[in-house]
Amino acid sequence: MNLFSKTIVGLDIGTSSVKLVEMKNVNGHWRLMASSVSDIPREALEAKNPDQQRLAVVDTIKKAYEKSGIKSKRVATSLLGEAVIIRYVKMPFMTEEELRKSITKEAEQHIPLGMDQVVLDFQILGEGQEDGQRKIDVLLVAAKIDMVDQHIATLKAAGLSSGVIDVDAFAVQNAYEINRLEANEETVALINVGATWTTINILEGIATQFTRDIPVAGNDFTKEIQKEFNIKFSEAEELKKAHGAISIEEEEFNLSSVSQKDDRVLRMSDVMTPVLNKLLGEVRRSFDYYETQSRKKNVERVILCGGSAKLKNLNRFLAGKLGIPVEHLGTFRNVEINKGVDPEQLSERELSLGVCLGLALRQSDQK
Ligand SMILES: Nc1ncnc2c1ncn2[C@@H]1O[C@H](COP(=O)(O)OP(=O)(O)OP(=O)(O)O)[C@@H](O)[C@H]1O
Ligand SMILES: [Mg+2]
Repeated sequence: MNLFSKTIVGLDIGTSSVKLVEMKNVNGHWRLMASSVSDIPREALEAKNPDQQRLAVVDTIKKAYEKSGIKSKRVATSLLGEAVIIRYVKMPFMTEEELRKSITKEAEQHIPLGMDQVVLDFQILGEGQEDGQRKIDVLLVAAKIDMVDQHIATLKAAGLSSGVIDVDAFAVQNAYEINRLEANEETVALINVGATWTTINILEGIATQFTRDIPVAGNDFTKEIQKEFNIKFSEAEELKKAHGAISIEEEEFNLSSVSQKDDRVLRMSDVMTPVLNKLLGEVRRSFDYYETQSRKKNVERVILCGGSAKLKNLNRFLAGKLGIPVEHLGTFRNVEINKGVDPEQLSERELSLGVCLGLALRQSDQK
């Protein structure tokens, strides 16, 4: 059997929507076979009862599957936020095999939870010398067992089987890696702005150096709009998607001329600004931390993705404030697109699909 004839599926269960992609490796090239995005009904998410919430997520996964026409039921998925603890640590030199045997003992010193409460994984990022001693740089990932179990139960309830379980930040890294235009050692920050979380992953070349999930994202913009206009969350969400824009200083005139027709644009921009500044502050803090740790290197470029990357002018706002180029992730730049895929629909949703594309690629690593 030809291994490359198999399709692989990435499933991104976000806090606002479920995303799916199906990929196939055709003669060494990745081809997108199908994709799908389905919103999780907001009312269900606001329900106090966690069972009700889970049911809504399961229903949305089923819907996303139906819409996509994808048949394969084995999926790669991911966790983020409070479900995972990530540490970059230096350890005395040892081989991967040795580390695998002693990982629990090593992790105990770095993970603030009982070793019986987490599932551990690691990756050796590199090696070097410190105080005359040979050391290794290790990426340590601890996922909370109860959250992993819940996650697997959700997949089962949706009739799926669980393949790789990854972390959002590293999935975006995979998606970036296959779409990168130039192989260089540039320091880039991948920033995925979702509904609840903004995930940052700072890379040198394609190697992760620092990652963090910040609890400020699209829902926070929507909540401010909801308050300002005294409307339902879902209405505020629609208004934001249709007319929301960040005002850019040099374009003040333009934005205010739009606002003569529709002053809602200006009001939205005003109420979103404090949230935006909070997000910017957290991004800066992450950059500062990396720059202090790495001593000599600075973040040179930002690659933006996630549903909230579609917010008009967010890229330009960040570029202006951070003083570095900010680009959107070309999620399918180096990917072939299968005939049946609607290009317009794909370009509308591509910024939302970075995590699940990266997940699908991870699934393929495991085969
Ligand atoms: N055109 C648009 N303009 C502004 N915001 C948008 C637009 N389209 C989608 N969004 C926002 O993107 C967010 C959803 O993005 P995404 O699907 O990446 O989040 P998620 O994966 O469900 O959430 P999380 O990763 O935080 O759990 C929502 O807050 C939504 O309002
Ligand atoms: Mg997400």
